Amino acid sequence: MTDSARARARLNRNLSLETIIEPQPDLGLVTMNGPNDPEPGLTIVDGTITAMDGKTADEFDLIDRFVSLRGIDLEVANEVMHLSDDEIALRLVDVSASRDELVRLSGGLTPAKLARVVGRLDPVEMMFALKKLRARRRPANQAHVTNRKESPALLAADAAEAAARGFAEIETTVGVARYAPFNAIALLVGSQVGRPGVLTQCAVEEKRNLELGMQGLTTYSETLSVYGTDAAMVDGDDTPWSKAFLASAYASRGIKVRFTSGSGSEALMGHAEGCSMLYLEARCLALIRATGSQGVQNGGISTVALPLSLPGGTKAILAENLVAAWLGLEVASGNDAIASHSPIRRTAKLMGQFLPGTDFVTSGYSAVPKYDNMFGGGNYDADDLDEWTTIQRDWQVDAGIEPLDEAQALAVRKQAAGAVQAVFRHLSFPEITDEEVAAAVVGYDSRDVPDRDRAADVDAADLVFAEELTGVDVARALDIAGYTAVAEAVLGMQRLRVSADYLQTSAIVGDDWRVESAVNDPNEYTGPGTGYRLEGERWEKLQSLPHRLDPGTLAPAATNQTAPITVLGDAGQGAGRDEVVIGVGPAFLGTLRATINGLEHEAVIGALVDGVRTAGGRPRLVRVRRTSDVAFIAHDAARLSGSGIGVGVQSKGTAVIHRADLEPLDNLELFSMAPVLTLDSYRAIGGNAAAYALGLRTSPVPAELDNYARVKHIVQTALLHARETADVEENAAPIEFTLR
Ligand code: 5AD
Ligand code: CA
Repeated sequence: MTDSARARARLNRNLSLETIIEPQPDLGLVTMNGPNDPEPGLTIVDGTITAMDGKTADEFDLIDRFVSLRGIDLEVANEVMHLSDDEIALRLVDVSASRDELVRLSGGLTPAKLARVVGRLDPVEMMFALKKLRARRRPANQAHVTNRKESPALLAADAAEAAARGFAEIETTVGVARYAPFNAIALLVGSQVGRPGVLTQCAVEEKRNLELGMQGLTTYSETLSVYGTDAAMVDGDDTPWSKAFLASAYASRGIKVRFTSGSGSEALMGHAEGCSMLYLEARCLALIRATGSQGVQNGGISTVALPLSLPGGTKAILAENLVAAWLGLEVASGNDAIASHSPIRRTAKLMGQFLPGTDFVTSGYSAVPKYDNMFGGGNYDADDLDEWTTIQRDWQVDAGIEPLDEAQALAVRKQAAGAVQAVFRHLSFPEITDEEVAAAVVGYDSRDVPDRDRAADVDAADLVFAEELTGVDVARALDIAGYTAVAEAVLGMQRLRVSADYLQTSAIVGDDWRVESAVNDPNEYTGPGTGYRLEGERWEKLQSLPHRLDPGTLAPAATNQTAPITVLGDAGQGAGRDEVVIGVGPAFLGTLRATINGLEHEAVIGALVDGVRTAGGRPRLVRVRRTSDVAFIAHDAARLSGSGIGVGVQSKGTAVIHRADLEPLDNLELFSMAPVLTLDSYRAIGGNAAAYALGLRTSPVPAELDNYARVKHIVQTALLHARETADVEENAAPIEFTLR
């Protein structure tokens, strides 16, 4: 233990739950620029690669062979491999080097070279390069929707809400494998209620996964994992060729597909071969591109916490996203699995993808509470949605999630849960009860929805495969049940698979079924004013947070026009040595009637007067009209006072005790924390002012301190002060008044 109370306090922070380690390169526990990474190199003899990245062809493993055969453009290689790392790195951040050109050049680079070049960039350079290299013009986002009970009503409701919040893709998985068809159907129906055209997937074992797609119950897949060493690949019973074949199988059936890879997996599997995470990831990405895939989900993904235990972890994650984008791939950039116990670290990491924008800023934002996340917990989840949309608003950045008010959320949740209930009924699946529907609409998580007969569910789910029920059957059931628009949308998803426009790089389906991809809507950023910018209608929409307030309601002007005061005329110079002049601001007891702390102005005056009198002084009330500055209000009051002592109070409640012979910005006591001042405070202020007037020794009124008061009240402070200032009459003399 430690002797220091400060150190103990820090040990109580969630950061202390993490394991922060020194690199151990021999085990692959090094993020980038590893000491054992090979020197980049490429030898081409008679149009054949005979050596690459430190190995001759006879030493190639399967990944080297695949990449060297299919992943390197030899002509471009001759053009770029001899350039220095920095020469190439410079182009990544050169605003005049276009994405097209950079993607072309990447085709000639070996994995070691890709890793080395990106390793030359600092984090901000990486973000800039990523912004330039993102495939699609507009960034989007992907949601995870799961629940522990695999409640179809809750899955559908959550998918609908996620779709209505703007997620372009929604992913589910299963706790129990046999639930896959049900979860896929719930997601399909729910998503199309939320917004027609949202793509869905159900991540399960590859054969089942492909069948779900072929039956039209899902439209995309990102289950194709690859690893950066042969031994790790073999662990998954795979080779580059088997993965390429599988990817083609999906695409040939009109199912959008991308791969998954990410730093840390090889070290975790004990097969890093002493290489750095970024180098191994560059091998994965070169391999993925060589398969012809349109994209990848990468950025650590399930293994993200391992690079984050090491120096440069967050940076390496960004680097791997950047390599993927550079290779021309669609990038769903992680931020899905819990990366850290510390919310500060999680958000610091997120900014790497959030600010530049990626094709999918998260490859699974948990649209459900943490409890129900079946992907091992979400880095961000349903509880964080309002913070995410607020941060988008703060940065004026589109990270793919739209604000949604509660009424809209409830409406789509209700329709979705009802729609999936109808589908289950028409397909003779086990009943979804009205109670399940009702609970799914308003519940927090699956603990709030009734249990189902799980044995009956999985038996019925088996029939979806046995009877080859398709998306068309789902659409027909919806149509019969009267959910015509949802039926149309589900049918529309089947049409997508036939037209297959959405197999293009980085495709999502926008409004009115318009496919947005790197082909018809590419990112063409070439500097300020170009590319995608969050402006116009979309910016209006992302600004319109349900929790925003109309400033007009925060500092309302008095509705009662007649102030409860009697004006006695211009305030004259006082004579009594026991006098304390209480000067109030121009709007006090006029346009405004209460302080920021909600104290009625009449009561504040009452407390001040009471305080002065109790301490033996004689109060006089004056309104200062020429200024709204509390220092000058108080100083003007002091100068009018027979004792030379005055109190100034602004309408918002800020108070100062002043003396006529001091400089206006000097003072006896200042009470700047108006939100924490009570009537007792004002009574004490009056008492001290009287004591000063009478020449008595007195201790300053204890100052209240609330360090959150400013951030909490700053808007109201500004509004109240603006009202006070609007009532200033230049050169107007102070007037004396009494309370009526
Ligand atoms: N590399 C490769 N595949 C990964 N997955 C998760 N993280 C990685 C990674 N770093 C895969 C899992 C699972 C899905 C969630 O993604 O194997 O199939
Ligand atoms: Ca995912």
